[in-house]
Amino acid sequence: MTDNSAYRIEPHVPPIDDYMRLRLESGLTPFSREAAEKGLPNSIFGVSLMHGNETVGMGRIIGDGGCFFQVTDIAILPAHQGRGLAKWIMAALSDFIATLPKTAYVSLIADVPANRLYSQFGFNETAPRSVGMARVLKPH
Ligand SMILES: CC(C)(COP(=O)(O)OP(=O)(O)OC[C@H]1O[C@@H](n2cnc3c(N)ncnc32)[C@H](O)[C@@H]1OP(=O)(O)O)[C@@H](O)C(=O)NCCC(=O)NCCS
Repeated sequence: MTDNSAYRIEPHVPPIDDYMRLRLESGLTPFSREAAEKGLPNSIFGVSLMHGNETVGMGRIIGDGGCFFQVTDIAILPAHQGRGLAKWIMAALSDFIATLPKTAYVSLIADVPANRLYSQFGFNETAPRSVGMARVLKPH
């Protein structure tokens, strides 16, 4: 049994330096600092996974506060992966989702194989009836 007693979830978005580092080191496409400075304060909800004083994971919910929400930025530093900690993050986000209006539409784009994580928290693939589409303005 994995001992995760050194970890804890805190109910806040990571500070910007940690956010930038987590995206980079977990292999997610990094955003510019300017973009992150603008975007993070507009989060609806976020969590930080802490190991002592170090932020080692995160998850965020963005949206309009009433109708549409999106789960973003699910990431754990490589050295801390595979211990079930992403499930802690998703459980915390799910607790928050449970407080949303019952008609809320909560979506996400899953980078395979993370779809196996999200399917354990009630997220179902929408294809073929609807498919995720994305427009990237400019390669990062
Ligand atoms: C996705 C990520 C957060 C999972 O973190 P983790 O700590 O390894 O996840 P957990 O140990 O809590 O495992 C939870 C589930 O994730 C699934 N999973 C997600 N990514 C996986 C991977 N790379 N390999 C195997 N299983 C994976 C498994 O189904 C697992 O559940 P199970 O053990 O019951 O089968 C982590 O791999 C990561 O940060 N990846 C880089 C960033 C990324 O791709 N984020 C998702 C963007 S949509």
